[in-house]
This record gives sequence, C-alpha cells and structure tokens, in this order.
Amino acid sequence: MKIGFIGAGNMGSAIFGGLIKSGRVQKEDIYITRRNKEALAAQAEQYGVNALESGKAAAEKCDVVFLAVKPAMLKDVISEIRSAVKSHSPLLVSMAAGISTEDIEDMADVKGVRVIRIMPNVNALVGMSVTAYCAGANAAAEDVERVKDMLCAIGSAVPVEEKLFAVFTAIAGCSPAYVYMFINALAEGALKAGMSKKAALEIAAGAVMGSAKNVLESGTHPEMLCDAVCSPGGTTIEGVCTLKNEGFEAAVINAVTASIIKDAQLKK
Ligand SMILES: NC(=O)c1ccc[n+]([C@@H]2O[C@H](COP(=O)([O-])OP(=O)(O)OC[C@H]3O[C@@H](n4cnc5c(N)ncnc54)[C@H](OP(=O)(O)O)[C@@H]3O)[C@@H](O)[C@H]2O)c1
Repeated sequence: MKIGFIGAGNMGSAIFGGLIKSGRVQKEDIYITRRNKEALAAQAEQYGVNALESGKAAAEKCDVVFLAVKPAMLKDVISEIRSAVKSHSPLLVSMAAGISTEDIEDMADVKGVRVIRIMPNVNALVGMSVTAYCAGANAAAEDVERVKDMLCAIGSAVPVEEKLFAVFTAIAGCSPAYVYMFINALAEGALKAGMSKKAALEIAAGAVMGSAKNVLESGTHPEMLCDAVCSPGGTTIEGVCTLKNEGFEAAVINAVTASIIKDAQLKK
C-alpha cells in the first residue's frame, strides 16, 4: 500500500515519521510532496522516502493520501488533484481544523470520494498524540480501520462523532498549549523562589506527565486523586485553595468554551 502526503510540514512529517518509526509502513511506500522543492528533496533524503513533484502525482500513485496542508490551502490542493481522485480513487485523509468530511466531499466534487477526517495534536512529534477520527459518507469500514492503525503510530486513536470534533479539538488539539502554559507557570513559581528555570521546567514537566499517567492508569477520579495529595492543614491544600480562589478552574473551562466558539466562527 502506497501512502502519500500532500504537505510535509509539522503534522505531515510527524505522521510519516511516526509511521516509519513504528515499522507499520516501509519508507519505500511513502511519497511526499510540498511546494518548496529544495526542502522537499532534503526531507525525502532525511527520511528515506520518495519525493513527488505534485499533489496530483501523489493522488495518482498512492492508495491513501494525507492532506497535510493548512486549511486555507485545502481548496486549491483538492482542485489540483480532482482529476486524479476521479481516475484513481485514493482514500483522502484530512486533518484540517474546522473542515468537515462533507466540505471535503463538496470540494472534491467526485462521486463516491472516500474521506476520513482526523484531528491529531502536536504531541504526535513524540508519538503521544490523542487523535480523533471519523468517516465521510463513502468511506468503508476497512478504510477506517486502515487509518486508525496508522494513527496508532503517532499515539492513540479515538473515534469521535463529527459534530463533536470542535469539542475534541479544544481539549486535545488546543490543550497542549494550555498545559505548556501551566508547566511554565509552575517553573516560574520555582524560579521566583530561587530554583534555576531549566531544572524547574524539567521537574514541572515530569510531575505533569506523571499526574496524567496516574489519571489514565488508576481509573480514579481526578478530584479523588487531588484529595489524596492534600494532607489536613498541609502545604498542598494551601496551593489548591489559592488556585480555586484565583479562578483556575473557571479560567480553564472558559478557555475550552472560547476555543469551541472560535472554531464555529472560523467555519462561517
Ligand atoms: N501543527 C499542529 O499541531 C496541528 C494539529 C492538528 C491539526 N493540524 C492540521 O494539520 C495541517 C497541517 O498543519 P501543519 O502545522 O503541518 O502546517 P505546516 O507546518 O505549515 O505545513 C504545511 C505544509 O503544506 C505544504 N503546502 C502548502 N501548500 C501546498 C500545496 N499547494 N501543495 C503541496 N504542499 C503544500 C507546505 O509546503 P511548503 O512549505 O513547501 O509550501 C508545508 O509542507 C493543517 O490542516 C492543520 O489544521 C495541525
């Protein structure tokens, strides 16, 4: 099976890099293309994959084509590959924020076009993306399974109803930025108290990673885990009360809501 990537930026390269690393796909079966031909040649050499001169060539050659360009470029790219999609029927995989499978089917304007929509996050770079997927009207069950298996190369894959993609995007696509802010703020607190920022960042990131693992592996509600850390009259409950008084939880909920509202505005 040949896998094509139209766009080889942050997300495209994270996905094909992950596929190679996981051994799910051989380098020889990966075909990439982008506008900057110098960068294309360098990337093809770096990863040992094939470079193609155009998106149309990718759609002609490959069984699965990842559309890994910015959402604003998608219409042009789909228009460029339309004739190849008509003649070769590749499975199209879109990761464009805010663009539905129906939008892609309309843009392609090819009867029976098979589309899968995914939403990875930046942690794909370290093989820890939580990626949502859903199928368009014409995608078969085996198309879904094939893409799901590929997504496991960059982390975990979760089926999400398309109407909830904006919600998923807020808590999985945008949230790494919120968590980076939290880690930085923890480190700044330590810096203020005399620890080096470098050491504090490493410690804070490790504590956040361990806490996330604990939530996932213990199956215990986060509020119970929080209670378990707070000794009566101790240091942790002082900090927890301060966060509550400063509106920490409301701020996070409002941030998620703001991301969902923005997603709807971008679609208009
Ligand atoms: N980055 C994330 O964390 C993230 C998370 C979730 C979803 N996504 C989605 O992933 C998609 C890609 O985002 P990204 O962050 O990877 O963007 P990016 O780093 O800017 O990469 C975009 C790629 O598209 C290529 N490109 C642009 N126009 C093209 C064309 N007409 N034909 C062929 N290639 C073209 C660019 O190549 P040149 O530079 O050579 O033009 C570049 O390799 C977007 O839809 C985004 O919504 C990204």
